[in-house]
Parts: sequence; structure tokens; C-alpha cells
Amino acid sequence: MREHAREWSKHEMSSTETKPIARTVASTQSEMTEIILPNDTNTLGNLLGGRLMHFIDLTGAMAAYRHSRTHVVTAAMDHIDFIQPVHLGDLLTLKSSVNRAFSTSMEVGVKVWAENTQTGSALHVASAYLVFVAIDKNGRRQTVPQLIPETPNEMRRYADALLRREHREAESARRKQERHAYTEQNNGSTPNS
Ligand SMILES: CC(C)(COP(=O)(O)OP(=O)(O)OC[C@H]1O[C@@H](n2cnc3c(N)ncnc32)[C@H](O)[C@@H]1OP(=O)(O)O)[C@@H](O)C(=O)NCCC(=O)NCCS
Repeated sequence: MREHAREWSKHEMSSTETKPIARTVASTQSEMTEIILPNDTNTLGNLLGGRLMHFIDLTGAMAAYRHSRTHVVTAAMDHIDFIQPVHLGDLLTLKSSVNRAFSTSMEVGVKVWAENTQTGSALHVASAYLVFVAIDKNGRRQTVPQLIPETPNEMRRYADALLRREHREAESARRKQERHAYTEQNNGSTPNS
């Protein structure tokens, strides 16, 4: 019985001890393929922007889950370029990976291609950056492992992610100040009230 208890506590300890402090970009890489059906399209038969954003959010979250191995929420989706329309019947492939991990947040990049099933030609149709925050099941923020960029492209994205974070923070502070100034001028009412 005592031996058994010791074995159990060893197991408990090792599961905490082996929690990685860093993971590679490659270990976060995720991919999803969807066929574009009538319900996904607008009146011209092109993929709806909101539907594309939904697919981007899901594929981005997969990379964030693989990096953090806990629950994640989308904190921001920024810099989304819709480069080409996607047509009914196309095969949409989305690829994601974590660009950089900070304290509790991760920036994920998602790239999207559309393949014409008749010709086999594939076009890059969209790219986006998202920020996910790791939380536990009670909503408390969780520290994430650091990210190890290995290839020159991964190192470039890693460096660029820090610049985008600084830009995001500056923008967020500017909007907050704007809201505050508006509320002051309008006796407490908010811009949308
Ligand atoms: C995202 C959220 C958890 C942040 O909580 P918060 O109390 O404002 O957190 P903080 O300001 O202390 O920031 C925590 C982290 O989130 C990041 N963050 C917060 N807001 C952000 C934003 N708008 N854009 C990018 N990063 C953001 C911070 O940079 C920080 O990262 P770090 O720990 O790596 O340095 C919270 O705003 C939230 O729950 N939002 C709703 C999420 C949601 O419902 N998403 C859609 C469905 S999944």
C-alpha cells in the first residue's frame, strides 16, 4: 500500500516536472481543409468574409491549443487581408502556427489557400494574425511555454510579432484615451450609447 502511494506521488510529481518550458514552432503547426458549400457563400457564390474569419479563428485556436495545452480565448484578430475571392466548390486550406509566445498570450499566424477542384490550381487568398490568451477551466489566465523559432522564416515571424504587439498596445491605449475623452465631453455617455 505504501509502495503504491509512493508510486502515485512520483507520477503526480513527474507530470508537473515534465510540463515543458518551451516548445518549437513546428509542434504548433495546424491545418484544416473545408469544401465551400452554398451555405458558406453570398449571393454571388463567393465565400462570406465572416465565414472565412470563423475558419481562421478555428485554425488559429488549434495552434494555440497545441502550444499551451490548456483552454484559450481569442483576444484579438488583426491585420486580415482578403486577397482574392473564394468560390463555391473550392477547397479551402488553412495553415496556422504560433509566431511568438509572451506571458499568457500567443500570436498566431494563419495563411489560407483556395484550390479550384477542376484545374487543381491553388491561390493564396487570405492571411491573418490573431492573439489567443491561455486560461484554465475557471477563466484564470495561465502562463504559456516560450516558443523556439528554428528556421529563418520562423525567426523573422518571431521578431515581427513583437513589433505587432507593441503596435497593438499603442493602438489599444489610443482608443482607450479616445473613449475616455468622448465620455468626459458627453456627460458620461459612451460612443455607442
Ligand atoms: C482576452 C482577455 C482574457 C484578456 O483579459 P484581461 O484581464 O484584459 O487581461 P490583461 O490586460 O491582463 O492581459 C492579459 C494578456 O492578454 C493580452 N491581451 C489582452 N487584451 C488584448 C488585446 N485586445 N489584443 C492583444 N492582446 C491582448 C495582454 O497583452 C496580456 O498578454 P501577456 O500576458 O502575454 O503579456 C479578456 O479580455 C477576455 O476574456 N476577453 C473575451 C475573450 C472572448 O470571449 N473571446 C471570444 C471568444 S473565444
